[in-house]
Amino acid sequence: MLCLPYSEKNKTVFYRVKEPNHEQTKPGHLDTPHQIAMNLITNAYHAVDPGNGKIDIQLKEKEFKTHSIARPRIEPGRYAMLSVSDNGCGIDSETLEMIFEPYFTTKAQGKGTGLGLAVVHGIVKEYGGEIFVTSESGKGSSFDVCIPLMKSEFIPLTDDLQNVSPSGTERILVVDDEVSIANVESQMLARLGYNTTISIGSHEALNSFKTSPEAFDLILTDMSMPNMTGDRLAYEIRQIRPEIPIIICTGFSEQINKENAQEIGVNGFLMKPIVKSEMAKMVRKVLDKC
Ligand SMILES: Nc1ncnc2c1ncn2[C@@H]1O[C@H](COP(=O)(O)OP(=O)(O)OP(=O)(O)O)[C@@H](O)[C@H]1O
Ligand SMILES: [Mg+2]
Repeated sequence: MLCLPYSEKNKTVFYRVKEPNHEQTKPGHLDTPHQIAMNLITNAYHAVDPGNGKIDIQLKEKEFKTHSIARPRIEPGRYAMLSVSDNGCGIDSETLEMIFEPYFTTKAQGKGTGLGLAVVHGIVKEYGGEIFVTSESGKGSSFDVCIPLMKSEFIPLTDDLQNVSPSGTERILVVDDEVSIANVESQMLARLGYNTTISIGSHEALNSFKTSPEAFDLILTDMSMPNMTGDRLAYEIRQIRPEIPIIICTGFSEQINKENAQEIGVNGFLMKPIVKSEMAKMVRKVLDKC
């Protein structure tokens, strides 16, 4: 167990982290558990009062043996459960129904993107997990995130999290036909300081671009999308603004490399799943070159 007091601008919170033992959750990139924890803890930190804020974080193994009445949405099995509880302002029942909606925020303009919990929800669903929230206005909140456990080999730590990623403030149009992926990418970029707009699918993206072609400094698009693939979208966009920088995100099977990325006419490509530090470097590199 790790117990660390944390103090900033007169707020003191106590973080208590318990680690489970040998098993790991389904393999994914390290950035995903990091995204879940970071979003929940940041929300809790914003919710607590200066002076007597308390945030309790626990990571433990939890077994659901049968379909539980208290938690009907979860399949029986073994889970890693990350619980983040705070004694902050709490959430009223009306707001509670909307907190996982992308862009829903009660924070002042410029203070929150409203994407944090949408990202957490997308990741947890992808893992086949579940999130349980209990909260009451004025009485704090508790978020339990359950992710299925499986036996797996040790995944070595990369130095990814230690690197400081290059950042910026340019305007980026993020295009993916999967909402959860678009949200994650957009949030990664927003956290690096960029100003992001999301388009779900290539038609929506092309329409946004046609409406205001000067509103974006870079396009980050998925390759494999129904109706219009990323390379075709790149072509259409270039008909409108030939010099706009474009980065394409591809899966392993799509075999895009430096050479055919140039043939398609895009400035860079990224392999999925997107790693934040690689994305940060590529975005900066392309923006600085163009
Ligand atoms: N621990 C909490 N206590 C009180 N309200 C919360 C808590 N966690 C989330 N909320 C509510 O849910 C809303 C949505 O949270 P979400 O993390 O998606 O976006 P955000 O925190 O507003 O912005 P950001 O994208 O920067 O995370 C918050 O604006 C807040 O109203
Ligand atoms: Mg948040």
